[in-house]
Amino acid sequence: MKTILTGIRPTGHLHLGHYFGAVGNWAKLQNDYETYIEIADVQALTDNFESPDKVIKSVKDLTVDLLSIGIDPNKANIFIQSLIPEIAELTIFYSNLVTISRLERNPTVKTEIKQKKELFGENGESITYGFLGYPVSQAADITAFKGNLIPVGDDQLPLLEQCREIVRKFNNIYGKTLLEPEAYLSKFPRIKGTDGNEKMGKSLGNAIFLADSDEEVKRKVMSMVTDPNKIKINDPANPDICMVYYYHKLIGNNNLTTVCEECKNGKRGCVACKKELLSKMLEFLKPVHEKQKYYNEHPEEVDEILKKGTKIAQEKAKETIKEVKRAMKINYFE
Ligand code: TRP
Repeated sequence: MKTILTGIRPTGHLHLGHYFGAVGNWAKLQNDYETYIEIADVQALTDNFESPDKVIKSVKDLTVDLLSIGIDPNKANIFIQSLIPEIAELTIFYSNLVTISRLERNPTVKTEIKQKKELFGENGESITYGFLGYPVSQAADITAFKGNLIPVGDDQLPLLEQCREIVRKFNNIYGKTLLEPEAYLSKFPRIKGTDGNEKMGKSLGNAIFLADSDEEVKRKVMSMVTDPNKIKINDPANPDICMVYYYHKLIGNNNLTTVCEECKNGKRGCVACKKELLSKMLEFLKPVHEKQKYYNEHPEEVDEILKKGTKIAQEKAKETIKEVKRAMKINYFE
């Protein structure tokens, strides 16, 4: 059986971008693969080392969100990164196999550095050793659990490529030990925001969260960006530049052709169209909210799930570190 390994940073609740971009897939894949889902608290700290409280709170929120969208703790192991010290050990070994300039050239890291510079100015002081090295730590996440398939959004592809390079280099130097992972992309590997931005993101203020109340969802749907050329209710419009139509598609509205035709022919007002989307979205969110409520009222169950998942993950990582140390011939006194 192949192994799925994926991770997510605990920095807030899941939103629809996560769900349709990657996380929704995990709930399907867990049926056919040995599945590990890492709550990447150590990685979240590379950006949030000054506010650990936020990260710690998010570990639980995120776990509740994952369970609410159908991750089944009997099929998937949800675990906490910082409780697997082997990941930190692997990170140190792998850090010899990566140059600083290669890390700086990683497109995902490059974008993040650019964003940090915009935030903190050009002096570069915001770029820590830990932050620059997080792709190395992510390679440790993946290989510690012998992940074959990595279901992620497309922003993670450069990190996977970096992991594959590390694996190849390790295997070349120390002998074939590690597996080269492959990405597994969802049908929509990048989800747009409600404002039409190419990416939905918490910091961009254009996200609909799985934990949003019905009122919040309503406010967000009703203010979605539509075709700016449609002024009057009967003006024909272009659904391809309308976020309402985009989300009708994502949510799987089975009335899609009608929505599209009516929009193009000026037979559908935006308000009515938004209301239809809102009702589909609330229908989709209803069972999610019910499960969220259940798990929020049973925090001890959530703890048990994390403990169990972490224990299984620890065993797997122990196996890997043994093999790695053997390959590197640092298995003293074994
Ligand atoms: N970098 C991922 C994110 O920002 C989270 C992550 C951590 C991850 N470790 C991983 C993803 C391993 C895939 C595999 O969401």
